[in-house]
Amino acid sequence: MQLTKKGLWAGIIHEYREFLPEIGTDAITTLHEGNTPLIETSNLRDIFGAIRLLLKYEGLNPTGSFKDRGMTLAVSKAREEGVKAVICASTGNTSASAAAYAAKAGMKAYVLVPEGAIALGKLSQAIMHGALVLQIKGGFDDALNIVKEITKNYPVKMVNSINPFRIEGQKTAAFEVCEHLGHAPTYHFLPVGNAGNITAYWRGYNEYRKKGAISNLPKMMGFQAEGAAPIVAGHPIEHPETIATAIKIGNPASWTNATSARDASGGVIEAVSDADIIEAYKLLASREGVFCEPASAASLAGAIKMKKDGVLNDGDTVVCTLTGHGLKDPNTAINSCPKPTKVAADLKKILKAMGL
Ligand code: F0G
Repeated sequence: MQLTKKGLWAGIIHEYREFLPEIGTDAITTLHEGNTPLIETSNLRDIFGAIRLLLKYEGLNPTGSFKDRGMTLAVSKAREEGVKAVICASTGNTSASAAAYAAKAGMKAYVLVPEGAIALGKLSQAIMHGALVLQIKGGFDDALNIVKEITKNYPVKMVNSINPFRIEGQKTAAFEVCEHLGHAPTYHFLPVGNAGNITAYWRGYNEYRKKGAISNLPKMMGFQAEGAAPIVAGHPIEHPETIATAIKIGNPASWTNATSARDASGGVIEAVSDADIIEAYKLLASREGVFCEPASAASLAGAIKMKKDGVLNDGDTVVCTLTGHGLKDPNTAINSCPKPTKVAADLKKILKAMGL
C-alpha cells in the first residue's frame, strides 16, 4: 500500500502525465492541485457500524474544490493552443477555479453565474482573481446555453466540463483513492450536479484497472438534491431548487455519461433531501472535524441513506468525495447553527456561560 506522498507535489499533470493527454511542459499551468487526503472517519460507527468510511477531502485543493484538477489541464491546453481568454457558466466553484488558473496563465476569464444563487466565498474568489463576473437573471442551465453560443462564434475557450480536458484532469482523484487504499473502494459516493465528476471518477477507476494497478471497480453512487434531481426524475427540471447551490442544475451536460457509469458499475443515482444534506453537513463538521460545503455533503447523506436501506454491508470500504470546502459558503454554515452566545467581558459571566 502506498502511503500519502511526501515531499514536493508538483500537481496532477506532472504526477499523472502518462494517463493524460500530451502537453508541452512550458504550457503547464499548475497551482499544485491534487494529492488531497483520504480521511478515515472515526466517530460515525453508530451509523455505519463495521463499514470502513473514508472522506476524499477535495476542499483542500488550491481554490477549495475538485474543479482545480480539471482546470489545470483545461487551462494548460488552452495556453498551449495560444488561447487568450476562457469562459464558463458556473454555480460558483468552476468560476473560482477558472478565474485562478486563468490569472496564473495570464489569460482573461469570463464567468456567467446565476444571480443571487452562488455562495459568497466563490463569488469573492472569482472577483479577486480578476475574472469578469456576469451575474445573469437565470439559472446555471441558462448560463451554460449562453456560454455554448458565445464559444461557437468568439475566440474564447469553454472550460466547463464539456471541455474534455476537464474530465481528464478530474479522473486523477480516482487514482489517488486507489493509491491510498491499495485497491478501489466497494462503493464511491458523489454529489451529482452537471455530472462531470462521476463521469471522471468512473473513467479513472477503469483506466487504473486496465493498467493493472487495481483489480476491482467500485459501484458508483451519485446523489442529487431532491429539488434538483433531473437524472432521478428522468427528465430535465426547469426550475431546480436546493440549498446546495453548487448542484442546483436542471439539465446536466454529462447526463448520459453519468447513467452509463451508474449502470456499468452496478451503482445508483438517487436523491437526498435538503434536510438530509444539512444533517450530513453538520455531522461531518461536528463529529469528524471536516468542513465541507453543503453540496459535498450529499455524498455522505447518500451513504447514510444506503446504509439505512440495507445496501451497504459490514466490511465494505466506502469513499465519499467531499467536493468543496465549507468556507466557500459561510452563510449556510451560520444559518444552520445556533447563533454564538453574546456575553459581557466579565469572568464570572463567561464562566457561567461555559457552565463552569
Ligand atoms: N460539488 C460541488 C461543490 C460542486 O461545485 C459541483 C459542481 C458538484 C459537486 C457537482 O459536480 O457538476 O461534476 O456533477 N459545480 C459546478 C460549478 C457545476 O459550476 O462549480 P458535477
